[in-house]
Amino acid sequence: MKEAPLLMILITFQVTALSATSSGLPISLPGCPDKCGDVSIPYPFGIGKGCAAASMNRYFIVNCNSTFQPPRPMVGDPPATAEIMDISLEQAEMRVYGPISYNCFTSNTTVMDNNTGGFDLVDTPFIPSTTRNRFTVIGCNTMGIIGGYTHSNPDLYVAGCYSYCQGINSTSNGAPCTGKGCCETTITPNLTDYAALLIINQSSVWTFNPCFYAMLAEVGWYSFRQQDLVGRLGFIKERAKRGVPLVADWAIRNGSCPKDGAKAPFGYACVSSNSYCVDAINGPGYMCNCSEGYEGNPYLPRGCQDIDECKLNKQNPNYEELYPCKNGVCRNIPGGYVCKCGIGKRSDGKNSGCRPVLTQAEQVVIGLSVSSAVVIALICMLAMRFQRRKYRKEKDAYFRKNGGLKLYDEMRSRQVDTIHILTEKEVKKATENYSNDRVIGCGGQGMVYRGTLDHDKVVAIKKSKVINDNCREEFVNEIIILSQINHRNIVRLLGCCLEVDVPMLVYEFISNGTLFEFLHSSDCKSVIPLDLRLKIATQSAEALAYIHSSTSRTILHGDVKSLNILLDDEYNAKVADFGASALKPINKDDFIMFIQGTLGYLDPESFVSHHLTDKSDVYSFGVVLLELLTRKKPIYIDNLDEQKALSHTFVLMFQQKQLRDILDADIIEDEVMLVLEKLAELAMHCLNPIGDERPTMKEVAERLQMLSRIQMQQVTTPNPIRMHYTYGELSMSIQSGGMKYQSSDTAKLVLDVDRL
Ligand SMILES: *[C@@H]1O[C@H](CO)[C@@H](O)[C@H](O)[C@H]1NC(C)=O
Ligand SMILES: *[C@@H]1O[C@H](CO)[C@@H](O)[C@H](O)[C@H]1NC(C)=O
Ligand SMILES: *[C@@H]1O[C@H](CO)[C@@H](O)[C@H](O)[C@H]1NC(C)=O
Ligand SMILES: *[C@@H]1O[C@H](CO)[C@@H](O)[C@H](O)[C@H]1NC(C)=O
Ligand SMILES: *[C@@H]1O[C@H](CO)[C@@H](O)[C@H](O)[C@H]1NC(C)=O
Ligand SMILES: *[C@@H]1O[C@H](CO)[C@@H](O)[C@H](O)[C@H]1NC(C)=O
Ligand SMILES: *[C@@H]1O[C@H](CO)[C@@H](O)[C@H](O)[C@H]1NC(C)=O
Ligand SMILES: *[C@@H]1O[C@H](CO)[C@@H](O)[C@H](O)[C@H]1NC(C)=O
Repeated sequence: MKEAPLLMILITFQVTALSATSSGLPISLPGCPDKCGDVSIPYPFGIGKGCAAASMNRYFIVNCNSTFQPPRPMVGDPPATAEIMDISLEQAEMRVYGPISYNCFTSNTTVMDNNTGGFDLVDTPFIPSTTRNRFTVIGCNTMGIIGGYTHSNPDLYVAGCYSYCQGINSTSNGAPCTGKGCCETTITPNLTDYAALLIINQSSVWTFNPCFYAMLAEVGWYSFRQQDLVGRLGFIKERAKRGVPLVADWAIRNGSCPKDGAKAPFGYACVSSNSYCVDAINGPGYMCNCSEGYEGNPYLPRGCQDIDECKLNKQNPNYEELYPCKNGVCRNIPGGYVCKCGIGKRSDGKNSGCRPVLTQAEQVVIGLSVSSAVVIALICMLAMRFQRRKYRKEKDAYFRKNGGLKLYDEMRSRQVDTIHILTEKEVKKATENYSNDRVIGCGGQGMVYRGTLDHDKVVAIKKSKVINDNCREEFVNEIIILSQINHRNIVRLLGCCLEVDVPMLVYEFISNGTLFEFLHSSDCKSVIPLDLRLKIATQSAEALAYIHSSTSRTILHGDVKSLNILLDDEYNAKVADFGASALKPINKDDFIMFIQGTLGYLDPESFVSHHLTDKSDVYSFGVVLLELLTRKKPIYIDNLDEQKALSHTFVLMFQQKQLRDILDADIIEDEVMLVLEKLAELAMHCLNPIGDERPTMKEVAERLQMLSRIQMQQVTTPNPIRMHYTYGELSMSIQSGGMKYQSSDTAKLVLDVDRL
């Protein structure tokens, strides 16, 4: 009889697990809204610059206009924007409300209303889908044309169709658009720029048909109605108030899928594991998809998650097809599932059948083992309760030992309210009990876990190795120092946990790993452009300059290295790990003992004198600059299999004017040699053996800012394109209702009217 409660517990347990994981996977960056109104906005799209993959294409930025209720997502540069209807990741499609061209007449000679609609999609990731759209024209006795350019061809592209009907009764509602009242045609791929035009012989305008329309619209959306011919703009006012649905294919236009074995291009978008790359079907570029058996967003790190086939609900219309393991025990495995017949069942040889094979005796044995399991569970629960009481006392002791009280006092006196003190329980929950899956790094000082706090905030939790009692006070100092730093290029400390033997720190989560991995990871070495290296160097230098001089008291980092510079999803640098940091003494005669540091980055002067100074950080930063310039590790193995110190070989090569031989071949180009030489000089300056002769971090940062500007100026802006159509006497400039045309170069479209 005791089996019933146990069973209940098991069942409820399973149900809660189900609802926790089957809820939607994140589709946007952490902390970013994933919806605007009713429309999902999946990354690489995002609401606002920080939430979109703006570095891939700025038109991935969506503007959520909340003047409307519900708010409406808009894409494009205001005022030439288009409203998004929906975005599909799997099909790499986006539906927008597209523009309509129209001409209305009051008599056979007077134009009352007109509009020319089109899109300029140059530089955007969008190209109108050829399979999902048709160019559609509505009217009697009119020709509609679509004109524009494709990215692969300098010639003007023109296509069109003619619609004719002598009276309203020669048309019929719902008829396909084959020429009576409306006509349609397919369009070319690769169209980056188009406008729809109407060509109407004004002397043969029927009195019953005042308005004519032309548009690119989703296949199947338009069905012919006689009212559309007879009313004045009735079609727009009734059926296309916000525009006509238009399907655009989107892709990551810059770059292509890496060929087998080739290194991934820089900024490669398919970042999720269990994802693959597909060449774009329309236009250049590529798109990403989750591998079979996975679902989610392939453009986000860890975006593709295993589909738990075993949790498919019977209510699912595709249940039979998707879940063939009907009578068996389904076990989910990454990328699929296995179907096993449970204990006492045996496969009937077919995919879906398991039949019982239990004998009476077997059933008794199973019954017995279940009841003894209940007894054991009860004993364990009692034992745990005793343990827990002892444990709570220990926790309080640790909190005191780790300076928890001092921290509380300090925080109260300095009114620090940015630091959150977590309980051990919260940390355990956030890291799923220090699950191995959540380890994102482990180094000399301890392990780093990815944690999820309440409200889905993703953080990095650093669990230090055991520290001795003298250090505990310094540890609390460090928390207080860090809590006062607020700089966009320094990793933010969000909280700490003192209830455990070794204190833990909670930092903001930086998604793209360390600069060290970025530069030196051996798998998939992609080219890193010079601009980006300059940006990372500048931002790191600014962060160090800030802690050296901008805070109320100078803070020395003490362990500057590429492993301590993190990169976010836009490759912004964030300086991390202030474990070795110290406040510079106010008294001139005091000094800071040089305690830590990493081989390859050690300032020889501090090493000898045992004094840590701000110039020690400058020296170490010089080595980071060398890594950025050469893409070699500070201690590397050369061609002759010998261990070399980068700071030593670089100086030699520089003095022997053999710079090109040691710089990273990927960035050597004649136009940038000047910048590279200046950078090398700056690094040499930082590596000066005499600390006093090195520049300050502030000077280094200013120098780098200047070099970034020089490098930026080499990027030129492309000329805008303008279109102008001429038809007989009729000539019109294109003023699209959508993403705007803004140019003056003329392309003439002269149609031979007599041949129509
Ligand atoms: C939102 O839409 C309204 C109406 O079209 C427009 O006037 C306004 O400028 C838009 N706001 C933004 C922020 O785009
Ligand atoms: C991605 O995979 C899904 C399911 O396998 C498929 O329907 C879709 O067409 C794929 N998308 C692309 C862009 O290949
Ligand atoms: C459209 O209307 C404007 C004025 O409303 C007029 O100047 C222009 O010629 C018209 N275009 C066509 C093609 O009728
Ligand atoms: C169209 O047909 C309807 C009846 O089917 C008739 O009443 C109407 O007069 C016709 N209109 C024209 C313009 O021929
Ligand atoms: C325009 O219509 C009027 C009658 O409404 C007619 O007299 C005139 O000839 C027509 N003009 C042309 C160019 O067809
Ligand atoms: C316009 O239509 C009239 C009468 O139907 C015809 O005489 C004239 O040639 C046409 N003009 C053009 C440019 O097609
Ligand atoms: C696209 O690639 C070209 C050349 O590879 C580069 O110059 C340009 O900056 C890239 N554009 C973006 C938006 O990444
Ligand atoms: C479209 O562009 C792709 C990639 O540049 C090219 O391979 C293809 O031939 C083009 N197709 C047409 C019809 O222009």
